[in-house]
Amino acid sequence: ALRASFATKAQKESQNFHRHFLPQAAYKVAVLGAAGGIGQPLALLIKMSPLVSDLHLYDIANVKGVAADLSHCNTPSQVKDFTGASELPNCLRDVDVVVIPAGVPRKPGMTRDDLFNINAGIVRDLVSAVADYCPNAFIHIISNPVNSTVPIAAEILKQKGVYDSKKLFGVTTLDVVRANTFVAQKKNLKLIDVDVPVVGGHAGITILPLLSKTRPSVSFSDEEIEKLTVRIQNAGTEVVEAKAGAGSATLSMAYAAARFVESSLRALDGDGDVYECSFVQSDLTDLPFFASRVKLGRNGVEALIPSDLQGLTEYEQKALEALKEELKASIEKGVAFAQKQA
Ligand code: NAD
Ligand code: LMR
Repeated sequence: ALRASFATKAQKESQNFHRHFLPQAAYKVAVLGAAGGIGQPLALLIKMSPLVSDLHLYDIANVKGVAADLSHCNTPSQVKDFTGASELPNCLRDVDVVVIPAGVPRKPGMTRDDLFNINAGIVRDLVSAVADYCPNAFIHIISNPVNSTVPIAAEILKQKGVYDSKKLFGVTTLDVVRANTFVAQKKNLKLIDVDVPVVGGHAGITILPLLSKTRPSVSFSDEEIEKLTVRIQNAGTEVVEAKAGAGSATLSMAYAAARFVESSLRALDGDGDVYECSFVQSDLTDLPFFASRVKLGRNGVEALIPSDLQGLTEYEQKALEALKEELKASIEKGVAFAQKQA
């Protein structure tokens, strides 16, 4: 009541708007690595979601200030901070979606696989806690190398007896966001309309934009296809080089991750028309994990969408065959790491 009496006219109107027109805030989301370059802007974007009731921010340091700062935004979710392993259980209990951007980013000259030695252990330990405290949550893995950290997470969840392949996601939304942006720019299309499926994995040539499946249907010259494909595959490196040692994509990544969180929450909330590309357990190819469009539902992946992989151009078919060896090796490296720990 006190808050209401001090509210400005605009705030009151906004509160009425929330009460009458927006969905009830209901879901609990945790961000692990929330004080980092991705974590902070991602937490801000999630704080803006009307679907979120509780936002739990976890990191090994510096998360108190981030949470205090964010908690002053007058959007529905309650923000809580959790620091260090002893506070991780309380961060995770009853959470619906866990997003993991914890780990080190690349510097110029590094591949994503060069991050394996540090990030594999971080993902192993965090997913192990997820298995113990919120085994039914959707798990969004951002930490690189995604092609290996997702298989690590799957193995850890299996070891704990709680693996649900439908709820484990490697976040590849940034590849789609980039593909949509670059194609719209090149072809002078309205951004909002453009949708390019990106399949395979999330590193170098394993990132395969299917430009022939762009919606709305667009035609490209061979040269445009080659240039756009290479730009999308190297877009992460483009940012790493521009930041010159200060890290990799954080803002566009936060934007992409927030879109994937929002899509997951809409699916949890019963929206029957939610599709995203993601790196998931898959039988669309002979690889055990593969990024493709998936239909999201209340229980996670409701269906893999095979149609994007049908009727590929010769260029795409060749690129698909060419990426398999690297992707297979990255998946096996992750599985071997996790099995060695068991
Ligand atoms: P950053 O260094 O700015 O932030 C990482 C955060 O993780 C830090 O706050 C750090 O304290 C925290 N952290 C480290 N160990 C932790 C642990 N055990 N538990 C909890 N938190 C821990 O890095 P960033 O720029 O935010 O990038 C994070 C990761 O995301 C990197 O691995 C990067 O390669 C990856 N990434 C992935 C994509 C993608 O498309 N999937 C895009 C961009 C970046
Ligand atoms: C990206 O695609 O931007 C991320 O995977 C970060 C990186 O290392 O390129």
